[in-house]
Amino acid sequence: MTIDVEAAKSKEVLEMGKKIKDRFKRWSFVFKELGVKRAAEIGVWEGDFAHAVLSRVDSIEEYYLVDPWKHLQNWDKPFNKRDSEFNTVFIKAMKQSVESNEPWAKKAKVLRGSSLDMASKVKDGSLDMVYIDGDHTARGTMIDLLKWFDKVRPGGLLCGDDFTDSFQHGKNFAPTFVKSVVSAFAEVHGLVVVEMGDAEDLHLSLWRQRYKNEY
Ligand SMILES: C[S@@+](CC[C@H](N)C(=O)[O-])C[C@H]1O[C@@H](n2cnc3c(N)ncnc32)[C@H](O)[C@@H]1O
Repeated sequence: MTIDVEAAKSKEVLEMGKKIKDRFKRWSFVFKELGVKRAAEIGVWEGDFAHAVLSRVDSIEEYYLVDPWKHLQNWDKPFNKRDSEFNTVFIKAMKQSVESNEPWAKKAKVLRGSSLDMASKVKDGSLDMVYIDGDHTARGTMIDLLKWFDKVRPGGLLCGDDFTDSFQHGKNFAPTFVKSVVSAFAEVHGLVVVEMGDAEDLHLSLWRQRYKNEY
C-alpha cells in the first residue's frame, strides 16, 4: 500500500474506531482493519490489553510487551507497587500472553525493563504500531515518545491511553501530562493527533501518522 492510500484507509478506520466505546474492542478493531503485524505495548500491567489484542487480531505476528514489572524509584503513580506485588502482576501478565495455551501466545515477546532501556532491543522503523500506556508523567511521556516514535514505520500508528493533563489519581500522586507533551511533540514534528475517546471515560486515546500530511 502506498502511504497516501494507507493514510486514507487509516483515517476511515479511525473514524469508525472512535464510535466504539470499549477501549479493548476499539483498538482491536483498528489494528485488525489495518492489518497490524508487528506491534509493541509500553506498560502492560496484568496483560489485559495485550490479551484482548492478541486474541482478536489475527494479523499480528509479533507483539512486544514492555514493562519493568518492578517498583520504580522515580515514578509517583498508583500502579507503582512493591516488588512482591509486581511479581504476582507479572505472573498474571504471562498467563494472559506467552504462557496461554492459545495458538497466538507464541506471538508475544516479553521485554522486561523500562521503555528507555528496552527500546534498543527493537529495530527502528520495524513496527506497524506502538501503544503507549506506561509512565504517564511529563518526564515519562517524553521518554516514551523520544525512544519509541522511531520504531514505527512510515505510515504506522503511534497510539496510547489517557490523553489528558490532570491530577488523574488525586493530588497525592504525580499529575498525568500526556496531552501537553504529546501535543508539543506532534507540533514539532508536524503530526496530526486524533483523539479517539471522550473526556468522560478517562480513556482518551490518540493516534497519529508517522509523518506529517498523511492523515
Ligand atoms: C496503566 S498500567 C498498563 C495497563 C495496560 N496497558 C492495559 O491496558 O491492560 C501501567 C504500567 O506501566 C508500567 N510502567 C511504568 N513506567 C514504565 C516505563 N518507564 N516503561 C515501561 N512500563 C512502565 C507499570 O509497571 C504498569 O504495569
